[in-house]
Parts: sequence; C-alpha cells; structure tokens
Amino acid sequence: GPDISLVKSGKLTTCTHLPYPPFQSRQGKKIVGFDVDLVDLVASELKVKQEIVDTPFEGIQSGEDLNTSTCDVAAAGMTITAVREKNLDFSRPYFEATQALLTRKGKPYRTLADLKGKRLAVQQGTTGETYAQKRAVGATLVQFEDLGLLVSAVKTGQVAAGINDNGVLYDFVKDNPDTDVTAEFSTGEKYGIAVRTGNDALRKKINQVLADAKKDGRYDRIYRKWFGT
Ligand code: ARG
Repeated sequence: GPDISLVKSGKLTTCTHLPYPPFQSRQGKKIVGFDVDLVDLVASELKVKQEIVDTPFEGIQSGEDLNTSTCDVAAAGMTITAVREKNLDFSRPYFEATQALLTRKGKPYRTLADLKGKRLAVQQGTTGETYAQKRAVGATLVQFEDLGLLVSAVKTGQVAAGINDNGVLYDFVKDNPDTDVTAEFSTGEKYGIAVRTGNDALRKKINQVLADAKKDGRYDRIYRKWFGT
C-alpha cells in the first residue's frame, strides 16, 4: 500500500510558483514541467499522487510554506543557497543554472554595466534579484511577482532587460523571437527539492529516487522531454 508515513495526507503535496516553464507551468487544466515529472517519480515511489499548490515564491524560498506544513515538498526551480538552508532542507542538486539577461532583439545590453540608468526587471525573492542588487550598480531595479510578468515587461519594452535563470529565459526566447538572451553570468546555481527542516526521511527518499532515476535513464528521458536535447 502507499507509504503514507512520509507525507501528511495520503498524497504528496508540492508547493511551487507558476509560471516557471519548462520547470512548472499550466497547460490547460494541468500543471506540467520538468520539476513536476521529477516529483511524480517520488510520489510513485511512495505510491501516492502528487498534488501541486501554486503559491508566491517568497513563502516557498523563506521556508514558511514547508514549516507551516502547507506542503510536503517545494519544487520550484529553486536554487540551493546558504541562507535558504537555514530555513528548509534541500535534496541533492538535480539541475544546474546560471543567471542570464533577457532583452528585446537588437538591444545593446550585454553586461550589467550596460544597464546603468536603465530599468532592469527582477523577480521578487529570487537569486536573480539578489544578484542584480549586488551587481547591477546604477540600474533601476523593477520588481515583478512572477516570471510571466517579468518576461512580458521585457517584450513590451516597459524595461530595458530582465534577469532570471538561463533555462527559463532560453525557453521563452524559443517562442518569442523578438526577444534575445544576451548574457549569462555563471553564478553556478544548483536546484534542489526542499522539505521542511528535519524531515530527513523524506529528503533521503527524494535523494534515493533522484539517484536511481539518473542511473536508470528516467532522469535523461525527462530532461529530453523538456529541453529537447
Ligand atoms: N532559481 C531562482 C531562485 O531560486 C528562481 C526560482 C523561481 N522559481 C519559480 N518557480 N518562480 O531564486
């Protein structure tokens, strides 16, 4: 039967923040993506269904959603950081990322210095925001609640550029040829699936599922499905 000792209510609840394709986004009535497929592997190992809760990124990355038991896990293309590790526990890394710059096609912004005196879009609570606060000296940071709002602000010219993770920006550019990724900043980020502090049983289960999936080809299959290579 289902291994319900590790989850709170006979299902595996996942907190995430939409949209963040190809990691998580709505497709019709369903929520789909790379992270969704990975957590489904964990759910099926526990013989339960995954239920996804869409909630602001701030409460995810601060640990609040996990520590108040809103969800069993958080999977949101979320970077493992030392600050976050104080308030939640991460699985082993499952994906690598770096910050990148999105502009309208043909714009001359290739470094953060080029954005001096310009408006730069950042996503609230993210590592991109922190990076821009430190490095985009002289730029005016304009905060957006989610990735969808950030990319459309770039596309419509409300801001000169936007900073976010490379994977999501390259995914956006594929369908929006009037935009371009003009820089990557090699921040060396790694995504982890988070559990509430001290939930070692579930964290270990996730690590085991990730390790098995990397060995037996399921991880590669999911990777190809969402990144096409
Ligand atoms: N990787 C970045 C971070 O951890 C951005 C994650 C945003 N994810 C999301 N689902 N909105 O800060």
